[in-house]
Amino acid sequence: MSQPLRVALAGLGTVGAGTVALLAAHGALLERRCGRRLLVTDVSARSRGRDRGVDLTGFTWHDDPVAMARRAEVDVIVELIGGADGVAKAVCEAGLAAGRHVVTANKALLAKHGTALARSAEAAGLTLAFEASVAGGIPIVKALREGLAANELSRVYGILNGTCNYILTTMRESGREFADVLAEAQRLGFAEADPAFDIDGIDAAHKLAVLASVAFGVEVDLDGVHIEGIGRVSAHDIRFADELGYRIKLLGIARRTAHGIEQRVHPCMVKLGTPIAHVDGVFNAVVAEGDFVGSTVFQGRGAGAKPTASAVVSDLIDIARGRRTPTFSVAAVDLAPMRRSPMARHVGAYYLRLMVIDRPGVFGAVAVALGEAGVSIESVLQRGRDPNEVVPVVMITHDTEEQAMLAALERIAALDAVVEPPTVIRIETL
Ligand SMILES: NC(=O)c1ccc[n+]([C@@H]2O[C@H](COP(=O)([O-])OP(=O)(O)OC[C@H]3O[C@@H](n4cnc5c(N)ncnc54)[C@H](OP(=O)(O)O)[C@@H]3O)[C@@H](O)[C@H]2O)c1
Repeated sequence: MSQPLRVALAGLGTVGAGTVALLAAHGALLERRCGRRLLVTDVSARSRGRDRGVDLTGFTWHDDPVAMARRAEVDVIVELIGGADGVAKAVCEAGLAAGRHVVTANKALLAKHGTALARSAEAAGLTLAFEASVAGGIPIVKALREGLAANELSRVYGILNGTCNYILTTMRESGREFADVLAEAQRLGFAEADPAFDIDGIDAAHKLAVLASVAFGVEVDLDGVHIEGIGRVSAHDIRFADELGYRIKLLGIARRTAHGIEQRVHPCMVKLGTPIAHVDGVFNAVVAEGDFVGSTVFQGRGAGAKPTASAVVSDLIDIARGRRTPTFSVAAVDLAPMRRSPMARHVGAYYLRLMVIDRPGVFGAVAVALGEAGVSIESVLQRGRDPNEVVPVVMITHDTEEQAMLAALERIAALDAVVEPPTVIRIETL
């Protein structure tokens, strides 16, 4: 029997403890699959005394995870601490410098330093693996990098943040407003006390930047992601979307265009009947479109101790088997710089909701503003009349370039009958 794969875990929180539990539960199964044992020998976290619901006896404890990464006699360092910089980055760098493979679930770190870490790992003949960093238990990194590697991918998109999907789903099911549902999600533990990372779209952007790199063989480019969160989606929009045959989802989308690669995270209208429209609650889903394979859909749990541990351990299995693939699908030295497609050049249809004073001539003024900017209207929806009161008016445009839409919005916002900044949601053709 081969030598065990010796593993050190840095971080014993939700994912770290989940990983310990999985390795304990499936020791024999994993040994058969790998031809060797996966053996945790060393661990590190902040508070040694904390009960984590798993048995840590037999592991060597380290107060300092960076020193552990440098010195422990192991083959792999698993970084499950989190954060784009600081100790998590130091752990990964120390592990690679000391000749250890590195597994991480840390999308914030990869989105910022992924290219540099991949180059260090590959230069040293080591693996940097990160299946758990995107869409939790869904094996999307392997799917793109290995299963779909024969394809030219044109677009990869998905629901990458369970908290946002839970909030949007609950708003639709209950008819309640965003702030109310967010507060409830925080009480129930589905949203963090500081929810900004999730609801502002930043967490999804981290994941999208990693996915785009794997899908298109380009350097990870977080700064090139256009990011909008879900904070401006109102109960009105959810109701109108329903009437028009759409669902509102926060999507991360990476797409090849004639101008380069478009990376964007924002609320989208997606047609009912498309697979993504029916992914509800905390679930994640990713769709990858390839030239030979067509459209492939992956769905599952995007977070939580067990699904995320499943992904972490799948990386350990690859390392134990001696399976190596380029970190981001092509050798790190060959990753092309990202050629960004500017958002102003984005082309698509738009949902536009205006809160206007219900009086004669208002609709005409809005239509002129749109027409002067070169935006044409496909349909208009107004429910009920209420003379001289504020009422919502909804319009769907034909496909238009984003810069034309922005010009139209500026004109519309200047109309005195329009009493709130217009709400605009891009319609995504899936
Ligand atoms: N939670 C999920 O469902 C999920 C899903 C996918 C990816 N991820 C990613 O997985 C990583 C871990 O997430 P998590 O939810 O498991 O986080 P968590 O529950 O907050 O756990 C973080 C762990 O890191 C330890 N830690 C923090 N600072 C440390 C330091 N300076 N030195 C040593 N240990 C330190 C903590 O120690 P103490 O326990 O002693 O405080 C804790 O054990 C993050 O990158 C996250 O983005 C999480």
